[in-house]
Amino acid sequence: MRNKNILITGGAGFIGSHVVRLFVEKYPEYHIFNLDALTYAGNLENLKDIENHKNYTFIKADITHEDVINDLFIKYKFDSVIHLAAESHVDRSIKDPLAFVKTNVIGTMNLLNAFKNCWNNDFSNKLFYHVSTDEVYGTLGETGLFTETTSYDPNSPYSASKASSDHFVRAYGETYNMPYVITNCSNNYGQNQFPEKLIPLFINNIINNKPLPVYGDGNYTRDWLYVIDHAIAIDLVFHKGKNHDTYNIGGFNEWKNIDLVKLLCKQMDIELNREEGTSEKLITYVKDRPGHDLRYAIDASKIKNELGWEPSVTFEQGLEKTIKWFLNNENWLNNVTSGQYKSYYEKQYN
Ligand code: NAD
Ligand code: DAU
Repeated sequence: MRNKNILITGGAGFIGSHVVRLFVEKYPEYHIFNLDALTYAGNLENLKDIENHKNYTFIKADITHEDVINDLFIKYKFDSVIHLAAESHVDRSIKDPLAFVKTNVIGTMNLLNAFKNCWNNDFSNKLFYHVSTDEVYGTLGETGLFTETTSYDPNSPYSASKASSDHFVRAYGETYNMPYVITNCSNNYGQNQFPEKLIPLFINNIINNKPLPVYGDGNYTRDWLYVIDHAIAIDLVFHKGKNHDTYNIGGFNEWKNIDLVKLLCKQMDIELNREEGTSEKLITYVKDRPGHDLRYAIDASKIKNELGWEPSVTFEQGLEKTIKWFLNNENWLNNVTSGQYKSYYEKQYN
């Protein structure tokens, strides 16, 4: 059996928690180590249902701490890494770029070095899986799609830090023959997403009758994917992806922000038994995000043709599941929006 001690970083975050759950439940023969620093974005509540599984261990650690990371590799001999830990929010990267360099670049370097040193260049049956973003490709105009060969052209400190980490992973593959795969995915949405990102932030504001701050004219386009479909894609690439290769993952699902927000408002009115049009009245156009990328759209035909992956739900279905989850998990939402969140919100939007 291959890859038994799997280190998943950032497993207490949004996407990571879905990946951890999928692996813990689907592969009882693997041991899953979830390493997370529990920053504002990490929340062990996301994994309450699996925390006592025999094949699961949580490690609170920071990937920027080189010695700690080295010691953990020596102790547990992780034969595979699925690396998701990151600072992930573009708006925060505009206010504090260095934090993104520390975690996303230095943190990734620490993992690469620890992995390399642990196996002393004997990498048979080992894998370093780096989870990245479509934002590394920069922005598209009105037409065209990002493919795996699109040149990197990042525009935000967040995407520049992710691009840098992708380059290091690739460089370790070429230089030290370290086995790796990289996936570049589009915008995720779904349960447990921290309400700083568009969809959960707007759901929370609609619940609380607060303004919905649409940046600029709202004519920015993103390609949305339900988070569980991303986790399924990661499972597939982890087991069947080609060594030293890259796969784009996307939802075949482009929406202009303003159209998405209107659809969300409509579905929220239904779920909250409010008169149609109530939530739309909360839409407020605000100052644009600096360096705002106009459009992202993924050509996901490689992963579809080579590995048979496709999104399993439509956007309307995924959005409905997401809204229902947030409405049924008010405690989760209240917990994460108390404390620090309030001062973040005031600084960002007032
Ligand atoms: P998230 O912000 O919800 O979670 C990040 C997790 O990483 C948190 O649990 C946090 O505690 C942990 N973390 C942060 N800094 C750390 C450190 N120094 N040491 C250890 N742990 C640390 O992020 P997400 O949206 O789940 O994204 C996960 C990964 O997927 C990121 O690498 C991101 O770039 C990538 N990605 C995200 C999206 C998206 O739409 N959210 C799309 C494509 C790719
Ligand atoms: O494309 C993948 C990326 O998607 C991931 O790598 C990032 O980690 C993730 O945060 C996401 O980045 P975006 O910047 O696209 O997501 P965000 O939810 O912040 O914004 C989506 C769009 O909505 C974007 O055009 C900005 C806009 N927006 C966002 C917020 C938070 C608003 O108009 N108002 C807002 O308040």
